[in-house]
Amino acid sequence: MEKIHNLRHCLESAEFIKKKIGGTPKVGIILGSGLGGLVDDIEEKSIIPYSEIPHFPVSTVEGHKGELIYGFLKGSPIIAMAGRFHYYEGYDMANVVFPIRVMKLLGVEKLIITNAAGGLNTDFEVGDLMLIEDFISRFPDNPLRGFNEEEFGPRFPDMSEPFDKEWIEQTFSKAEELDIILKRGTYMGVTGPVLETKAEIRFLKLIGGDAVGMSTVPEVIAAIHLGMKVLGFSVITNESIPKVAKEFAHADVVDVAQRSGKKLVALVKEIVN
Ligand code: HPA
Repeated sequence: MEKIHNLRHCLESAEFIKKKIGGTPKVGIILGSGLGGLVDDIEEKSIIPYSEIPHFPVSTVEGHKGELIYGFLKGSPIIAMAGRFHYYEGYDMANVVFPIRVMKLLGVEKLIITNAAGGLNTDFEVGDLMLIEDFISRFPDNPLRGFNEEEFGPRFPDMSEPFDKEWIEQTFSKAEELDIILKRGTYMGVTGPVLETKAEIRFLKLIGGDAVGMSTVPEVIAAIHLGMKVLGFSVITNESIPKVAKEFAHADVVDVAQRSGKKLVALVKEIVN
């Protein structure tokens, strides 16, 4: 069976990055659409464009940059991805999760995943932050399908609690201290790139979704396989069924994510150690 992006590729990527950053990141952060503002708060930055890293895919979406940033947030060594790889761009799952595996080889033990998502839960409003408590995958593929690299993790990883309970509770306490309202819910991962039909939205709500988006699920699966602790956030950038009829615009998603992303940035800074 062909092994695309195998351990050797990940090791070569990690070696290259290690030489550039000269430190060990403990927390990885994936910055979703419009959430790049966090980068301004990272101190003593080393910035590496994906295009320079051996074997790294390159992102193609507007609002997603394509850089790895190593540095410190409140004294904690972190590595952030400004730009991620989506299944809808045409990457296979091994490429989508490649950076997560490289992060693990760099020393990352905990991963914070952020995204922009459409609200399914009618209690949610545009601009809300949702802590992801669980997910449902509607992807037709899984990053762990095929050859299992035992160095990464087990053949059948447990997925009964993908998001770390203790870290979630710490996050809620911090949010309360900072006066940030944090909703909680289940993230529905879909392939995109089309937005949902009205019937699909009824279906996704019915099966238990609170928010819907086109990323995150493969990344969580790979991170759990690697034994990382995971935390996830959605910025609710649009209502899946708008209360006032309105056509979906990606520019609005980026705009809301940038504005509400500020609350998320403030929170993330407090939970990285
Ligand atoms: N659906 C899917 N993905 C999304 C949405 C949506 O409504 N908003 C932002 N990402």
